[in-house]
Amino acid sequence: MSNRRLENDYSRYMDLKEGWVDRRIFWEQEIYEQELEQIFAKAWQFIAHDSMMPNPNDFYTTYMGEDGVIAARQKDGSVKVFLNSCTHRGNKICYADDGNTRNFTCNYHGWAFGTDGELKGLSNEHVYDEGDIDKSKWGLKQARVDSYKGLIFATFDEEAPSLEEFLGDFRWYLDIMLDQDDGGTEFIGGGIKNYINANWKFGVENFVGDAYHALWTHDSGFKAMNNNEGFPPADPTDSYHASMNGHGWEFGTEGLADIAILGQPKVLEYYEKMRPKMAERLGEMRSKIFGSLASVSLFPNCSFLPGIQTFRVWLPRGPHKFEMRMWTIVNKNMPDEIKQAINIGCMQTFNPAGVLEMDDGENWEGNTSVNKGVVTRRGKLHYGCGINRRIEHEELPGIVYASQFNDANQRQFYERWADLMNAKSWDQVPTRYTPRYAGKKTV
Ligand code: FES
Ligand code: FE
Repeated sequence: MSNRRLENDYSRYMDLKEGWVDRRIFWEQEIYEQELEQIFAKAWQFIAHDSMMPNPNDFYTTYMGEDGVIAARQKDGSVKVFLNSCTHRGNKICYADDGNTRNFTCNYHGWAFGTDGELKGLSNEHVYDEGDIDKSKWGLKQARVDSYKGLIFATFDEEAPSLEEFLGDFRWYLDIMLDQDDGGTEFIGGGIKNYINANWKFGVENFVGDAYHALWTHDSGFKAMNNNEGFPPADPTDSYHASMNGHGWEFGTEGLADIAILGQPKVLEYYEKMRPKMAERLGEMRSKIFGSLASVSLFPNCSFLPGIQTFRVWLPRGPHKFEMRMWTIVNKNMPDEIKQAINIGCMQTFNPAGVLEMDDGENWEGNTSVNKGVVTRRGKLHYGCGINRRIEHEELPGIVYASQFNDANQRQFYERWADLMNAKSWDQVPTRYTPRYAGKKTV
């Protein structure tokens, strides 16, 4: 009898009431293939920030699952996202990361597509019989595109709920990062790519709520940056995990801890000045959440650190590898010197040469590669911390657990993962919290 027999019901890969997850979801090729079908071909995914393509015909290439896509700014200011694969024999039509162009012309036989994804012309068009190629029918496969406060998202699933519904009440939290003042946000200083030999979910689950690894994994790094002083002693009071639809934010309500640790007094001063305005705009609670020792993931594969301001996606490249793309996100209205100070802080900590990024990457590679062992892979992993700490909070929407030092957001992430992996249609994907902001503005 094979011990490798895989389950058809993906909720059997976990028992979140007992607090465990099956190791095979981080290793098996078949499960990964199902993730591409059920999650990456269905869910809304972060594509780019508006500021990465400000002008008509600006474009940026990325991936949705293993599907290469091009995002391009249109003349009317909207953005289209379409497959980066020629409809003739399939060659990639754009090999650049980004740029500005009038057409994407395929290397193989010279089919040329506009920045709207439509087939516009052919090389040596006169040699073909008239009517052989109906250009109106052979444009590039288009995704649905929508954006939320500067973040552009896309999905290839016509049946998917609206982006607003997909984000749900998480918009209340997202606004803490995206809507601090009228100017909104931008990405600065270009993007960085990095490859890690680990399963993509380890990156996402670390950012969705793994506060406690920081006290250990990053202890020496913090000391090196912070006059040999480590983290302040862990305080489980007034700190939370909050999640909905698999998106999660873990935070304290002290504020500004991340920024303080970066040792950027200018930035700290800026935010201290800004805090009363944030409180006016977003309310007292949200102004305190910002910049606490916090981390955030959006389901399925986008994360950021409020305060440190690194913003990234975890693009899967097989079950044992992901491509990390990262940027620094700042408020457009910040003075340039504050933007630069934040960017330097990001570079020193969360980028491939940063003090903290390397600690994490090495751990995730270890988490993944051990499962090559068949006996190892049969085991479970513990996700039971803080399992009895669920609370109802009058101000905080979503599924809320007291204390940052628990696995609540990870459990919700994997529950959403299983919901999508099992669902034959979106009707079968439950909303597991009571929405407060459906159809309402959150600012
Ligand atoms: Fe693109 Fe032939 S494969 S033109
Ligand atoms: Fe970390």
